[in-house]
Amino acid sequence: MSSNDGIARLRTIKQQFDAECVSVVDHKSLEDFRNRYLSRKAGVLTLELQSLGKLPKDQRAEFGRVANEIKTEIEQSLAALAATILEREKQEALACGVLDVTLPGNRRRIGHCHPLTIVRKEIEDIFISLGYTIEDGPEIESTYYNFDALNFPISHPARDPRDTFYIAENLLLRTHTSPVQVRTMEKMQPPVRIICPGRTFRRDAFDPTHSPMFHQVECLLVDEGVTFADLKGTLERFHKQFFGEKTKTRLRPSFFPFVEPGAEVDVSCIFCDGAGCRVCKQTGWIEVMGAGMVHPNLYGFVNYDAEKYTGFAFGGGIERYTMLKYNINDLQLFFQNDMRFLEQF
Ligand code: PHE
Repeated sequence: MSSNDGIARLRTIKQQFDAECVSVVDHKSLEDFRNRYLSRKAGVLTLELQSLGKLPKDQRAEFGRVANEIKTEIEQSLAALAATILEREKQEALACGVLDVTLPGNRRRIGHCHPLTIVRKEIEDIFISLGYTIEDGPEIESTYYNFDALNFPISHPARDPRDTFYIAENLLLRTHTSPVQVRTMEKMQPPVRIICPGRTFRRDAFDPTHSPMFHQVECLLVDEGVTFADLKGTLERFHKQFFGEKTKTRLRPSFFPFVEPGAEVDVSCIFCDGAGCRVCKQTGWIEVMGAGMVHPNLYGFVNYDAEKYTGFAFGGGIERYTMLKYNINDLQLFFQNDMRFLEQF
């Protein structure tokens, strides 16, 4: 065997190697490829190098030089291939496993206000435009503010733990927003013109018109010379603005410990314009609020001069107003967070 034959074979091996390079696509095929040329026992190039000893002495140097040159080239090619494959496999893992930038994105739902919030804000806006400010009060309230200072007699049934959530003997979840009347009068002198929207709690089971947690909005106005006509005018203005200019407001005598005289407030049925329908039970009217002139006894609790000042107060359920405005017949829908319901607002 001459070294020329040997060198020619080496070159053929290298050509073959170069040609096969393109078919190496992953770590597994790279490993096989390397072994085929360089494995210690059976590598094509290893065997050629081992044949060096069989060559005549004067040819060995040239053959050895070419063989080593080709081995180095092959090793470099294999290293470059390994780097390329590693990079590609990294990119592929990123693309399919974690982040495929070609996939359509997740559509994000745009949030919007809950119907109760929409209505609360609408009510607030109407009263702000009439010169009222918004007050806030605690949801955990003392029996003093929730009952005593509102002129509830000790024996009043609303104090019963079967109706009211007590936290301690003199601490409860407020059953209405009226305690804010007293809190407000304690901290400011007349003229007082406030509304207070907020959460209220009663021991009621869920049904289409009840929930143990619901929302009320309270209104209080105290000044010199305030009359029952101011109360009626304010309610009328509010209802016309909220339900539409056709809406009528009616007051019926009623009783609440903290007002005198007290009244139940009705609006003309917004579904039949007062003609009579199923919603208003053929009466043409729908009850929406409690109201009245602030009881003089309350002024005693807050050190107002009952000879000088008079005022009115009213309070109603925000759920009720929302149900009427949007023709919703089940109050429980407000708290179930069903997207099919909420998306309609
Ligand atoms: N607080 C009363 C209720 O919860 C409503 C009301 C408010 C009545 C103000 C009169 C005056 O039913």
